[in-house]
Amino acid sequence: MPKPKVLATHALFPAAQEILNAHCDVEYWTNPERISRDELLRRVKDKDGLVCLLTEKIDQGLLSAAPKLRIASNVAVGFDNIDVAACTHRSVVATNTPGVLDETTADFAWTLLMAVARRLVEGEELARGGNWKGWDLDQLVGTDVFGKTLGIVGFGRIGKAMARRALGFHMRVLYADAVRAPESVERELRAEHKDLSDLLAQSDFVSVHVPLLPETRGLFDAQRLSKMKPTAFLINTSRGPVVDEAALVQALEAKKIAGAALDVFEKEPAIHPGLKRPNVVLAPHIASASIETRTKMACMAAQNVVALFTGQQPPNMLNPEVFKPS
Ligand code: GLV
Repeated sequence: MPKPKVLATHALFPAAQEILNAHCDVEYWTNPERISRDELLRRVKDKDGLVCLLTEKIDQGLLSAAPKLRIASNVAVGFDNIDVAACTHRSVVATNTPGVLDETTADFAWTLLMAVARRLVEGEELARGGNWKGWDLDQLVGTDVFGKTLGIVGFGRIGKAMARRALGFHMRVLYADAVRAPESVERELRAEHKDLSDLLAQSDFVSVHVPLLPETRGLFDAQRLSKMKPTAFLINTSRGPVVDEAALVQALEAKKIAGAALDVFEKEPAIHPGLKRPNVVLAPHIASASIETRTKMACMAAQNVVALFTGQQPPNMLNPEVFKPS
């Protein structure tokens, strides 16, 4: 039996290649420039499987160009790049990589929080730039983190990992989520459930951990941002379009909030020029970018593909109704 043909839009990592290569005939996109849409549509034509990145749209157009496709395996937990309904309609399995990046992403949200609170990037520029004249009493004075109130918007796995770290900083932790966590979790993480308006009004740091859905797109609009304290900071490691960037720039300009730290943007890789200010820390979508975690994500994506082609249910199916054991 010939091996199923798979396109991977990235070279992935050796450990993931090993998993895929054992069962599939894989074409890897190894060009350092990311694959163009045209190239993707051309190369996916004769493929049974696809390992893709969150920068690629898996939509009706792609599915029409790939009549043999049986699986689109995203190397990411977020899957707003995949039209899951269209995949289901075509009986194409869609998968993601949940769980393995929670701690790494929470670590990075904390990195951003600390960096913006303590003005690390401004300090680094001063230290590196050769203009530092020595210690001064009021130089780059930031904001304390210890003992403050952290508001977590979206209390899934990553939101909870964020809360767990706050225990060490003796923070009051508030969370807003449509689903209330079990009492045991609230107790363990010392987290209080609040509605979003209360959370925004009371938090010194607001960290966003919701998926991008129609109902979360533009969640942080002018009205919600104006509910935050003028001394508060917004941290976003979820998806860019959850925050209305123009409204955020206005809120920063009007000093309605004290600052922001962002890993994700509305129209990546473009960044609203109004965000390039000293009280905003910018990162290029790297919250899950540790070698351990990115390797695990790639391996998980590879395992999802191999599972399907060896007759098992892929462990991370977004549309389990599509799976038919062969
Ligand atoms: C990264 O942003 C992911 O969704 O995994």
